[in-house]
Amino acid sequence: MALRKLIAGNWKMNGLASDGLALAADLARRVKRHPLDCDLLVCPPATLVRAVADALSGSGIAVGGQDCHTGRSGAHTGDIAASMLKDAGCSHVILGHSERRTDHHESDALVRAKVEAARAAGLVAIVCVGETAQQRDAGQALKVVSGQLAGSLPDGMSAAQLVIAYEPVWAIGTGRTPTAADVAAVHGHIRTELRQRVADATSVRLLYGGSVKPDNARELLHVANVDGALIGGASLKAPDFWAIAEAAA
Ligand code: PGA
Repeated sequence: MALRKLIAGNWKMNGLASDGLALAADLARRVKRHPLDCDLLVCPPATLVRAVADALSGSGIAVGGQDCHTGRSGAHTGDIAASMLKDAGCSHVILGHSERRTDHHESDALVRAKVEAARAAGLVAIVCVGETAQQRDAGQALKVVSGQLAGSLPDGMSAAQLVIAYEPVWAIGTGRTPTAADVAAVHGHIRTELRQRVADATSVRLLYGGSVKPDNARELLHVANVDGALIGGASLKAPDFWAIAEAAA
């Protein structure tokens, strides 16, 4: 049976209160006028999480963080605990995004500890995996993704606690996307790998991310084992994010 799709916007380091709240209000208006048959999630920068959660309250649109610390509290200047995101209105948190793996040298082991922290706080972890262009050219895409899953997922996760986002690094923010056949191959592989690690693996939603736009969303979102999308650039414009969500529903 097809899983209900999840359309998630990753706003990254974009938005002051005025833009973020206008975007949230626009999405809330759209969903009220025309509820869609898919789940919607926005992940604003941490400064806007609570205000966006308040603006979306009652709309059915969920809110997520973009990262969290491994610890519950303490002397970690600049960091945010999973419980703080939950307290500010989040239900989800993106972990192991390639920009964090690159910019902050996050290892699989660190991502795994963050997933554990998210689980302990009652947040759904959206764990990102994906190969670089060099790794794909070397024929290692599936091997890289397997390694990231093995290293980043704690034991005993369930579908209610976990979403996987396959984001080829070379497709993020570039306008380039893999072919539908390539996406199908990786997503099928992820599903198989999850069967060894998660009891209800068939219910874990697998998102595709990387240059999802209104004009390619329909094709990408209807590939086998693609249960939604993680959207960066196009999630900053309400009409584009909405068009992608409509393509999913
Ligand atoms: P993009 O980003 O849609 O701008 O390519 C996707 C992501 O990084 O999650």
